[in-house]
Amino acid sequence: MEFAFAIHNKDIPDSAIEEMARLVSETFGEQYPEPNFPERVLSKFKPMVVLAKNADDVVGFKLGYERWQGTFFSWLGCVRPEYRRQGIARELLRRQHQWCKEQGYEKILTNSRNSFPEMLILNIQEGFQITGTDVDGGEPPPSILFSKLLKDD
Ligand SMILES: CC(C)(COP(=O)(O)OP(=O)(O)OC[C@H]1O[C@@H](n2cnc3c(N)ncnc32)[C@H](O)[C@@H]1OP(=O)(O)O)[C@@H](O)C(=O)NCCC(=O)NCCS
Repeated sequence: MEFAFAIHNKDIPDSAIEEMARLVSETFGEQYPEPNFPERVLSKFKPMVVLAKNADDVVGFKLGYERWQGTFFSWLGCVRPEYRRQGIARELLRRQHQWCKEQGYEKILTNSRNSFPEMLILNIQEGFQITGTDVDGGEPPPSILFSKLLKDD
């Protein structure tokens, strides 16, 4: 199947935010809810999303924002279950990293968890180093912290 990929940074369209919110709630549901997701996207400094589309349907995305000068934080991403294992997440990640490089970012940070093993595998395959863990809000399981220098790409 052929998928189309689109990058939005300045003025992410409302329709894209709505599609992401739908996927986030379907994917992370009650286990890891993302309350006020649309407002939180708009509150981020220099947000950027890569969307994967099958015709007009958003089937996956990867969203991040500038953490501080020179460093981009890859916040959240997912692929609809029926479209998984076709290389979409890897392509989203590579397009995000390429865009970050072109924008002059030197480093990308991201977090994941043991409960998302596919993402852990992909992060390691794509050159992230594990730099530590963080117990958000005091509740285990901890987040696993990753970092990647873009010059290593
Ligand atoms: C993680 C996720 C985005 C991966 O999406 P995807 O499009 O299926 O991933 P890809 O097809 O690009 O797979 C890339 C690689 O990841 C690994 N991988 C992906 N799914 C896997 C699985 N079920 N079992 C083992 N390895 C897997 C493989 O190494 C794969 O490469 P390969 O297919 O060439 O072997 C998707 O599984 C998802 O949305 N999961 C739920 C949400 C989530 O975990 N988000 C991240 C939160 S931090």
